[in-house]
Amino acid sequence: MAEMDPVKLMKQEVGRAAAAQVKSGTVVGLGTGSTTAFAIQFIGERLASGELTDIKGVPTSFQASVLAKQHGIPLTTLDEVDYIDVAIDGADEVDAQFNLIKGGGAAHTREKIVDGLAEKFIVVVDSSKLVDKLGSTFALPVEVLPMAVAPVTRALAGYGAKVDLRMGINKDGPVITDQGNMVLDAKFEAITDPAELEKALNNIPGVLENGLFVGVATEVLVGEVKDGQASVRSL
Ligand code: 5RP
Repeated sequence: MAEMDPVKLMKQEVGRAAAAQVKSGTVVGLGTGSTTAFAIQFIGERLASGELTDIKGVPTSFQASVLAKQHGIPLTTLDEVDYIDVAIDGADEVDAQFNLIKGGGAAHTREKIVDGLAEKFIVVVDSSKLVDKLGSTFALPVEVLPMAVAPVTRALAGYGAKVDLRMGINKDGPVITDQGNMVLDAKFEAITDPAELEKALNNIPGVLENGLFVGVATEVLVGEVKDGQASVRSL
């Protein structure tokens, strides 16, 4: 049998470890991305085997709800529940204080709502996502109302970022979010004060939400591969 690509293997094992933490009778925030997709798959498998019962998922994106339905996870909305026991979600960068950059899948606005409401927010990443300083490898996603793209681009440049409008793949034109907005990817040299920058950027008129998640994560699970063997550690 062909060997699985190591990054995929890390994502799979960290997704499995997070899914194992879900308890029966709970409300679960379902994140977006290729790592969380494995967690959704394994939650579905635990439900199908009867090991897990009576859970409800709150999806963070259209795609998360599609996957949840495929894997037999009953869904609910924030109109119907006023708490989330545990959320599982990926990240694009994680620093030592558990601050994150998210939004690689353009879903950070809903993700911040759902992950931020959760009693426990488990971040699932492979080891390539760990950084000393946020912003060092990944551009910060900023969701923007379409009519405000030009002024917000200028405002972000004023904060020292190199800014690109995120373009679709296999689609002409920009990525459109689940809310009908656009995403500006703002590359900073490094983000020295994530809490301050998060607030400042959300204060620019036309910005809906940026991908800095400060003080939201409660646990970070990291998938690693050594000599073809996958392991997961909790930071
Ligand atoms: C989506 C996200 C994702 O969680 C983040 O991009 C990580 O994705 P992946 O697990 O595919 O690496 O923030 O908006």
